[in-house]
Amino acid sequence: MANDDKFKKVISHAKEYGYVFQSSEIYDGLSAVYDYAQNGAELKKNIRDYWWKAMVQMHDNIVGIDAAIFMHPTTWKASGHVDAFNDPLIDNKDSKKRYRADVLVEDFREKILQKINKDVAKAKKRFGDAFDENEFRSTNGNVLRRQKQIDDITVELTRVQEESDLEGFKQLILDLGIVCPVSGSKNWTDVKQFNLMFGTKLGASAESAMDLYLRPETAQGIFVNFLNVQKTGRMKIPFGIAQTGKAFRNEIVARQFIFRMREFEQMEMQFFIKPGTQKEWFDYWKDTRLKWHKSLGLGEENYRFHDHEKLAHYADAATDIEFNFPFGFKELEGIHSRTDFDLKQHEEFSGKKLQYFDHEDNASYTPYVLETSIGLDRMFLAVFSNSLVEENLEDGKTRTVLKLPAVLAPAKAAIFPLVKKDGLPEVAKQIVEDLKWDFNIIYEEKDTVGKRYRRQDAAGTPFCITVDHDTLKDNTVTIRHRDTMDQRRVRIEDLKTIIKAEVDVKHWLMKM
Ligand code: GAP
Repeated sequence: MANDDKFKKVISHAKEYGYVFQSSEIYDGLSAVYDYAQNGAELKKNIRDYWWKAMVQMHDNIVGIDAAIFMHPTTWKASGHVDAFNDPLIDNKDSKKRYRADVLVEDFREKILQKINKDVAKAKKRFGDAFDENEFRSTNGNVLRRQKQIDDITVELTRVQEESDLEGFKQLILDLGIVCPVSGSKNWTDVKQFNLMFGTKLGASAESAMDLYLRPETAQGIFVNFLNVQKTGRMKIPFGIAQTGKAFRNEIVARQFIFRMREFEQMEMQFFIKPGTQKEWFDYWKDTRLKWHKSLGLGEENYRFHDHEKLAHYADAATDIEFNFPFGFKELEGIHSRTDFDLKQHEEFSGKKLQYFDHEDNASYTPYVLETSIGLDRMFLAVFSNSLVEENLEDGKTRTVLKLPAVLAPAKAAIFPLVKKDGLPEVAKQIVEDLKWDFNIIYEEKDTVGKRYRRQDAAGTPFCITVDHDTLKDNTVTIRHRDTMDQRRVRIEDLKTIIKAEVDVKHWLMKM
């Protein structure tokens, strides 16, 4: 399936099977805002739990908090978000459409890259086994010319971004001849900086109201609570504070479904360390976070690191864990060595000391911070899109199956009576009653068992359990595995152990 088609299938499947709906759909929706439906809410909760267990429960030096979305407005001055949390935007005067200037240039560059890949694919087809891709890339005239164009664009894009050269940004767009995808014209406004924070007000009357922001990241709720947690939890460095929660950004380019949203959820952890040890902890968390991703079995080839050359003002090292989404490799998680920037800024703006007294060194210092930050919605998209497959079966038919990691699946098993009579529904419902203490279980009696299997395959349920007439005689049922479609006869009393073996968090996290 082509990538575009795959992505469309992901979006329609997410709606059809009760995972993700457009927000306020009956009013034609709200751009880049989504609701999680009955199955989506469960999948999202399971991803969040999987992260929390790995980060908080399994580390005796990491604790979790739940800070408020509203924070004192000075927080955002101190953090740099008021002055520097901007995207460069540009309008097309004919279509009146607004774009991120950097995205226009990046998309242009991507198209050149696609042309190179097309040339390579064509040559591969022509020369067959004798084709040497490396040689072709390093000698073919067209490829070399295009690669030089890409390199030149990258150099200039980096320069205008680093120097905040807005005139240079516009000139780059004009020089490349980039046209508006809607009007097709090059009639561009100047490039302006646009702050991504949503503003709101706190207070009853207009005069006394205080200007607030909806938090654009959860991290600052951790920094301002650093000393409270350290003291009340008697935490010794190195230690971490984790939290999950909503964040809000007024994204200019909001597309690609739940990949880039205006309201989204982050799972962040700030790890407070001794200055000078940041390199060692940066490597540790890179390794640990990648192992967490890989434990879910979405395919090792679907992850790669992208080390940042252009560092944010607060960082001395940063990398992204990129995932192979249906639209290519994109950032899934960020790992940032944030130095002591945030704590120092909050010290300065609040006038309160945020230092740690190290008993071993008999000295106080401002800790350095290593941050891991992952978008829960992006993780949802990574898991969901990777799990959705069309399989050709031996009988020539196809089946759609959502091969979610069993630990994350919304429901762990569906229980079917073979027919709606002869006492079979009663036995099936009793099995549901017994299992629902431990797992999310579905009961289904409509349609043929074959159709029920297909429906549960597409919904991502790892096990289907059928009660038939033999069950009444010997207390056994048929259990069918979603991925292998293998069926076997087992005793009702063994069901809990069989399901647990596959869905248990320990079984999955032990793979780390
Ligand atoms: N505290 C650091 C921080 O917020 P970030 O790279 O801006 O860093 C971290 O964001 C993660 O949050 C990203 O890797 C991504 O997974 C997620 N994220 C950021 N913006 C998002 C958006 N508009 N929609 C969905 N997820 C987003």
